[in-house]
Amino acid sequence: MPKEAEEIPFVTIQLDSSSSEPLYVQLYNVIRGSILSGRLKGGLKLPGTRTLAKELGISRNTIILAFEQLIAEGYMKGKAGAGTYVSREIPDKQPSEMKNQKIYEDYSADSKNKKLSSLSSPSMRFMPENNFIPFQHGIPSVQDFRFDLWLKIFNKIMQRFSTKQLAEVDGAGYIGLKTAISEYLQTYRAVNCTPEQIFIINGSQQGLYLISKVLMKENDSVLLEDPFYFGVRDAIRSSKVNIIPIPVDDDGIQVDFAIKNFPNANFIYTTPSHQYPFGSTLSKPRRLKLLEFAGENNIWIIEDDYDGEFRYTANPLPSLQGMDKYGRVIYVGTFSKILFPGLRLGYLVLPSINLVDSFAAERKVIDRQSSILEQFVLAEFMREGHFTRHIRKMRILYRERQEFLIDEIRKELGGFITVKPSASGMHVLAWLPGYLDDKEVSKALRCNNLTAFPLSDLVLNYKRKPALILGYTAFNKEEIRWGVSILKDTLKRFF
Ligand SMILES: Cc1ncc(COP(=O)(O)O)c(C=O)c1O
Repeated sequence: MPKEAEEIPFVTIQLDSSSSEPLYVQLYNVIRGSILSGRLKGGLKLPGTRTLAKELGISRNTIILAFEQLIAEGYMKGKAGAGTYVSREIPDKQPSEMKNQKIYEDYSADSKNKKLSSLSSPSMRFMPENNFIPFQHGIPSVQDFRFDLWLKIFNKIMQRFSTKQLAEVDGAGYIGLKTAISEYLQTYRAVNCTPEQIFIINGSQQGLYLISKVLMKENDSVLLEDPFYFGVRDAIRSSKVNIIPIPVDDDGIQVDFAIKNFPNANFIYTTPSHQYPFGSTLSKPRRLKLLEFAGENNIWIIEDDYDGEFRYTANPLPSLQGMDKYGRVIYVGTFSKILFPGLRLGYLVLPSINLVDSFAAERKVIDRQSSILEQFVLAEFMREGHFTRHIRKMRILYRERQEFLIDEIRKELGGFITVKPSASGMHVLAWLPGYLDDKEVSKALRCNNLTAFPLSDLVLNYKRKPALILGYTAFNKEEIRWGVSILKDTLKRFF
């Protein structure tokens, strides 16, 4: 058993914030020096990154960067943020300080064994103080969420609600929240529903899982958009259904292809507002055709409207559910993208209230219901108008951030990668030259502390040109500029 780490003397870790050397380089040097001198012995468990960040009064990002470097070099084992230990076998005995020019190996596809040239590593440059790393996608600007208002409502509720109410269990959710959601959906997403059709869930992931448990049977055919959302595959996997990829283009899922080849399908999962990850919007003619196809063949459509609120052109598109005359659409919504992912609240709009009991019965097996307190607070937050105000504010902010990202890329990398503006959503695709492997590029970026998911990881069957998924919503201009500079320096090595 590794020894616990409380004995690490935090006091010996002295960092100088006025130094030109980045804090994580200083921290790396202190820990490495302590390991080499034997003060931190092999097998010792290091404190968690959160604890250390608190103790040292610096950001967790800084700790993670230092830890990741120490792990990469073999001084530590484990995973930054999930338990780390001093290695029993350290890589060298000669303490030599990490300098501002170093370090990562070149991951370029054609020169895997080469060390980096004399370029100073871009990762050594100023790292923005943010818990998320550019260009992680699907993360809202959590800094801009009004936690002060949330807390005020929470306090008010704690005084107002009875202990009986706090003990109540209703698998379908708190009626006050269901009412607020149905009003919002009718007004802003043109969803056709009553509060009784709303089923509160702990995020879309749980909703997708419940749909699979309640409605899917073994060997059912489930059509998934290709490229696809990994979350849906994971959610339905245990129902032993057949997953069938359907290609996507600039008008969304290719409905004619599905009609022609899979008339006996049982389910179609789609992200019509903003196809994940491709970014296209399902065109109106295809929407009508898809609904017709589902209605005539008794197919369930699962409409995942995960980021439909963020449409930057004048006319937000109505939901597929709102156009459905056959009652075949199950609408899936989440608060993860509008508010913050850790809230773990979302909702299903069931096509019929007759389905509510089956969903509640299945829900009972896993966790009975969503936290009643969070439901109360969110309902009030929506009733008081903060929710729609926040959406409006974020829509403006995200549009600016997207424009800024695209401008920066065009300015710095115009000749190498192509980025088209996206009319909606929270990420854009950066298309790479066809001969590059986006997985390799993504790996190299990761080594330079940049996150950019490769599109090819989300392909089921229909191969795509290489591209990176760049999220922009969680990052300010400074962070975006930093991210683009890393992108530029890393990509240089592939040309
Ligand atoms: C396509 C899609 N649907 C849904 C979600 C949201 O999932 P959840 O509500 O479980 O946080 C995401 C988040 O990444 C997503 O990309």
